[in-house]
Amino acid sequence: PQQIIIDCDPGIDDAIAILLALASPHEIEVRAIHTVVGNRSVDKAELNARRILSLVGRGDIAVHRGCERYLMQAAPQHQSSHGSDGLGEVELDDPDFTARPQHAVDALISQINATPGEVTVCAIGPLTNIALALVKEPEIAAKIQRIVFMGGAAFGPGNMTSQAEFNIWCDPYAARIVLSFGIPTTMFGLDVTNKCRIIHGLIDELAALKAPAARKAAEMLRHYSLSDTALHDACVIAYLIDQTLFSGVDAYLTVDTTDGPCFGRTVADVTEWDLKGHTPNCLVMTEVDDIRVLALIRSRLAGVF
Ligand code: BDR
Ligand code: CA
Repeated sequence: PQQIIIDCDPGIDDAIAILLALASPHEIEVRAIHTVVGNRSVDKAELNARRILSLVGRGDIAVHRGCERYLMQAAPQHQSSHGSDGLGEVELDDPDFTARPQHAVDALISQINATPGEVTVCAIGPLTNIALALVKEPEIAAKIQRIVFMGGAAFGPGNMTSQAEFNIWCDPYAARIVLSFGIPTTMFGLDVTNKCRIIHGLIDELAALKAPAARKAAEMLRHYSLSDTALHDACVIAYLIDQTLFSGVDAYLTVDTTDGPCFGRTVADVTEWDLKGHTPNCLVMTEVDDIRVLALIRSRLAGVF
């Protein structure tokens, strides 16, 4: 299986992504879960990561708490669709294990150094932890197999401003730093994740399952679907399970950090256009077979927990 580290801010769609990964042991081995400020504070993100792992009896997976501030914004902005606790106020037991003492930035550096070339970083929150790890120890760049991230909008509109998507808008400097290292990246931006929407049948089907975790997932999704129906973060994991579900274009990708209307925009030069001498650094996803992604989520969550 592919070795992955999930860097996240759970978050309901983050929770679905984590459950989907854990339900797919033939394709994916989750090496650790790192948390970052985003949808909620990093304290809530870290607690929620442990609540999800406890729900499925996976307290053996290391959770590392990461950054509580973005690089350049003094007061973090949070995302409203996930409820006050970040998981739709669904009743979940207190976790029966604690987070590891090492900071997520240092944990990422150690894990990449320990198994060079083997780890895929799945980033489904702001990119702050990953940027700081690369700034602290740039030589890890060559040892990261690839970064697959949810964030940005390359062709269509954003969801925080007309141009910027939440994860990138929270910390555009971090995203720009990460993209500047030339690590192979795959972007799941709103261009594709907005095409992967919950249909209400999915929630009802999950709710009807015997598996307790699937039923909790249904409760979370019911809350989430009041304000957003796109399964943004789960797309990243679905792709790692089955790459034929998505397609996209190679591009040179960077982030606009100028103080204007495009602040936080992911800017993609696709190969058909003028790359201005740049080498493509990102596969920007644009298409999804959404029916098959929903079927995958349904069958995987039904199968194990
Ligand atoms: C992204 O923002 C968060 O609210 C979601 O978890 C997802 O990572 C979508 O813009
Ligand atoms: Ca997220």
